[in-house]
Amino acid sequence: MAKTISVKDDQTGKAWKFPVLEGTAGPDVVDIRKFYAETDMFTYDPGFTSTGSCESKITFIDGDKGILMHRGYPIEDLAEKCNFEEVAYLLLFGELPTEKQYKQFERDITYHTMLHEQFHNFYSGFRRDGHPMAIMCGVVGALSAFYHDSLDINNPDHRRISTYRLIAKMPTIAAWAYKYSLGQPFIYPRNDLTYAENFLYMMFATPCEDYEVNPVLAKAMDRILILHADHEQNASTSTVRLAGSSGANPFACIAAGIASLWGPAHGGANEAVLTMLREIGDKKRIPEFVKRAKDKNDNFRLMGFGHRVYKNYDPRARIMSRTCAEVLNELKIKNNPLLDIAMELERIALEDDYFIEKKLYPNVDFYSGIIFQAMGIPVTMFTALFALARTTGWVAQWQEMIEDPQQKIGRPRQLYTGQTKRKFVPMKSRK
Ligand code: SDX
Repeated sequence: MAKTISVKDDQTGKAWKFPVLEGTAGPDVVDIRKFYAETDMFTYDPGFTSTGSCESKITFIDGDKGILMHRGYPIEDLAEKCNFEEVAYLLLFGELPTEKQYKQFERDITYHTMLHEQFHNFYSGFRRDGHPMAIMCGVVGALSAFYHDSLDINNPDHRRISTYRLIAKMPTIAAWAYKYSLGQPFIYPRNDLTYAENFLYMMFATPCEDYEVNPVLAKAMDRILILHADHEQNASTSTVRLAGSSGANPFACIAAGIASLWGPAHGGANEAVLTMLREIGDKKRIPEFVKRAKDKNDNFRLMGFGHRVYKNYDPRARIMSRTCAEVLNELKIKNNPLLDIAMELERIALEDDYFIEKKLYPNVDFYSGIIFQAMGIPVTMFTALFALARTTGWVAQWQEMIEDPQQKIGRPRQLYTGQTKRKFVPMKSRK
């Protein structure tokens, strides 16, 4: 028998039944698509804390247990046993690739890593100190002005080539934003390097000498990209889906996702964590900042802590912490004051009643900045790196949304508390 839930108006006694839909994992959902038509009322959920926006098969998160899976594979397995290209294939197509599929996919991505030469002009239009995320928003949106051959979102071939172009070009776009800020020449991608190697190569090579990508750092970067690839219906992914629901082209949708990710409450937190650790400056000052984080009248928050879904340790944070140790060890960085502060902050916070009661744990952003800084990546590039990795999740979710027969243009309603109808007063009579 189909599961249902009853809703009763306690004033009128009127009652309604709504279907309950079961997934393969996670909470059931109440299907309220007919709620307004039947009750003449809206539901109300600012921030969507209890609202499922779509059906998806890509990523599953259990926030209480600290579980993250992509297409049924635990993130711990993917981070340890796959490379980024394999995980990208899994997110897009639903299965891990065979060797033959992998080689074809790797080639398809590799042969779209270059940017049209006219893109140099876009970069030169920005100030050298412009934030890389501003450049990413502008340049990615501009891609739609170059690919008129593949903007029909209802054409599966157009969706495929746009998806490949976006995944392939993001490392080039991000690395060139860094080179532009330095006044150094752009470094072109190489077809003999992996996705992660190519990014590091384009970031740090110069035309003056050969540059060998450190394999340990490349492996660490590859794992970090995997950890950031997708994360269910987070703010930026929901932005991409909402933009895509109007039929906007995929380049415009990803540019919208980049804009949403930029916020310090979301992808901008990795940059904000480094800024916070620098502001703390000394382990002795940690109690002062923990006190501020707990003070309702102070809008300071411990950046890199807390999560809308995880009320347990973010599984990605554990892997990031291990990766941090590997990178510092490879670079022979014995004592990293910021890491010392971060580890002491984590220890104190995890023992503090406020954080325990509110279930605030380190999230994916807490350690990433320390790793990136150790690799020589500037703070302003941290969120651009997050956007680079998340592009694969965004395009996979966008594709799923376009192909979902249930999807229609997203158009939420509201609880209106403004002025009711009133008489117009001409300006000369206004007091
Ligand atoms: C990402 O959604 C995703 O999946 C995102 C992401 C992804 O991969 O896409 O995981 C990536 O965005 C990770 C989150 C990065 N952001 C930060 O590290 C910024 C600091 N964190 C917070 O701003 C906050 O924890 C959020 C935004 C992440 C989550 O906020 P929620 O779910 O809206 O929770 P909330 O603000 O209602 O907080 C609940 C309580 C509040 O206190 P009360 O009102 O109940 O008294 O916890 C407090 C908050 O004040 N709180 C914090 C805190 N985070 C929440 N207090 C101090 N420091 C913090 N970091």
